Amino acid sequence: MSQPKRYTITAALPYTNGPIHIGHLAGVYVPADIYARYQRLQGNDVAFICGSDEHGVPITIKAKKEGVTPQDIVDKYHAIIKTSFEDFGISFDNYSRTSAPIHHETAQEFFKTLYDKGEFIEEVTEQLYDAEANQFLADRFVIGTCPKCGFEEAYGDQCEKCGTSHNATDLINPKSAITGNTPTLKETKHWFLPLDKHEAFLKEWILKGHKKDWKPNVYGQVKSWIDDGLRPRAVTRDLDWGIPVPVEGGEGKVLYVWFDAPIGYISATKEWAQREGKDWQSYWKNEDTKLVHFIGKDNIVFHCIIFPSMLKAEGSYILPDNVPANEFLNLEGNKLSTSKNWAVWLPEYLEDFPDKQDVLRYALTANAPETKDNDFTWKDFQARNNNELVAIFGNFINRVVVLTNKYYNGMVPEASEFTSVDEETLATLKAYPAVISSSIERYRFREASQELMNLARLGNKYLADEEPWKVIKEDEARTKTIMYVALQIASALATLSEPFLPFTSKKLKHILCHSELDSESSWNDISTKEELLSAGHHIGKAELLFSKIEDTAIQTQLDKLEASKKANEAANKSVEPQKDEINFEDFTKLDMRVGTIIEAEKMPKTKKLLVLKVDTGIDIRTVVSGIAESYKPEDVIGKKVTVLVNLAPRKLRGVESQGMILMTETAEGKLVFVNPDAKEEAANGLQIS
Ligand code: MF3
Ligand code: ZN
Repeated sequence: MSQPKRYTITAALPYTNGPIHIGHLAGVYVPADIYARYQRLQGNDVAFICGSDEHGVPITIKAKKEGVTPQDIVDKYHAIIKTSFEDFGISFDNYSRTSAPIHHETAQEFFKTLYDKGEFIEEVTEQLYDAEANQFLADRFVIGTCPKCGFEEAYGDQCEKCGTSHNATDLINPKSAITGNTPTLKETKHWFLPLDKHEAFLKEWILKGHKKDWKPNVYGQVKSWIDDGLRPRAVTRDLDWGIPVPVEGGEGKVLYVWFDAPIGYISATKEWAQREGKDWQSYWKNEDTKLVHFIGKDNIVFHCIIFPSMLKAEGSYILPDNVPANEFLNLEGNKLSTSKNWAVWLPEYLEDFPDKQDVLRYALTANAPETKDNDFTWKDFQARNNNELVAIFGNFINRVVVLTNKYYNGMVPEASEFTSVDEETLATLKAYPAVISSSIERYRFREASQELMNLARLGNKYLADEEPWKVIKEDEARTKTIMYVALQIASALATLSEPFLPFTSKKLKHILCHSELDSESSWNDISTKEELLSAGHHIGKAELLFSKIEDTAIQTQLDKLEASKKANEAANKSVEPQKDEINFEDFTKLDMRVGTIIEAEKMPKTKKLLVLKVDTGIDIRTVVSGIAESYKPEDVIGKKVTVLVNLAPRKLRGVESQGMILMTETAEGKLVFVNPDAKEEAANGLQIS
């Protein structure tokens, strides 16, 4: 086996402005976790690092919307997100947060170092400003047309469509996200990271270096940005939520969130190392350490161009070895969207499917958006569970465990002569660790998960072909050999499934009593050890690893999505703007009475008008009302209505109208009377006939 290596594995710090959903899990956290668990099983020294990204404009916007402080928002979601990661077995060595003092110190120190080395350009420039909101507009506070791809809703710092990062002043047709105003320009001082100065290094490092083994989607994007030419980028902002700029003239300014967030990887490593009595620097400054960033594709520019430029400028850090960014996951054919509630939120998933964490991990891995955007469907989720986890993996293990208990009271039997099928099966088994390793090391987690399932298939097929339940009737020795071979496969599955299905792996190890073995076999032992479970070892009783998911459970999920769709359509219906505000005095001037319509007839030669006689309780008066298109005269006689009785009389077609009948519109746009006795009619918009 090769020398143990040191790995610093990072997963993008999630923005702390909402819970996380399946897209996050599929794109970043499950692949990162598979990789980290795998490296630990290889005996490597791993720091698996993440934390909450608690600065940035989205958090401020959310806080404003909810009328709370940004700190309230990040405290709330930090706790929710952290719990979700734990619930799904994401095995971070440290999950920190960027509001932690150690992060503020680390980020400020990093900035100071670059500042002192003269790595920034300090410049007063004109920046976008919203005079009404009294606020500079950067990042998500401004929306406009992307100068590169023409997408009309690009943010001030990045276009989410093409991924390019730019300066807010580059946006075409910018609009304030706060007021909708067209921004003006106002002078302000900022510090810029001259990316152009690092272009030569980036070219050398990425284009000419060994980065050809990066995923084509990552390499291709980065190459195109470098080829287009890079420009200085401001790394400070005029905002009040963030890390204060620690140098003279920086008062009232904070670090750009994308400057501080990736430094979060470093501060989270420091925090962990302090706790564990380790040296953090060896994880960030030792050339033997392999640094790998797991991210979604919208983060590529920051991890492949900006952060490496920062690290290079600082001078003492290693650079990422790989940045295996994933594409996006869609849900039932539509883009995942927080604002449209088109998502499967992890806390909600767990309510509906408690104990099915591994099922989601597996379904997301088997269908991961590794090389292109991919679609998550509940049908596929159900099929992955029922046809693969239950029918293949679970079925195989269950047969092995049940039969071993039935025939041998749970003891691994002695094998005698191996047939050629046995030999072949055992040889194939021994090849699996290398096969799965090769996929994982090339960041092909889909492929890796399918190879794992192929091993379970091998076991399932072996049992189906050898039929120990039949052989037992005539050949006890042969049956023992079959069960011995099958048990070796079960044991290998317990180890090899760990990165993908950590909960199942744990359960399976418990069933097979792995902990009672002299040495628990590691990944590579499967290929080298003579046997994984030797004769005489006792295993436990069968437990259900997976259970079938019924159609009704899937339908419930589809119904939820349908409800989101409906709610969105309703929310997007355009509503007439509200009229100007009136004060209470204005309102008290209205004298409204409940009256009864006692006569009604159409106004001659008009389409819209009815002439009504209304008994108001004070008198009987004539009211001309524009409701003839909604009501026939005979239908309104006897109706109770609300009448505004002190409206100045006015003549309509020669008839004096002495008041006004109050009407309102239902959600469906139907005109109805404001009638205290007909609540349901108005509320439900029922046809009044
Ligand atoms: N919060 C960012 C996002 O969700 C990711 C930050 S990654 C880090 O897109 F490098 F900045 F930490
Ligand atoms: Zn764009």
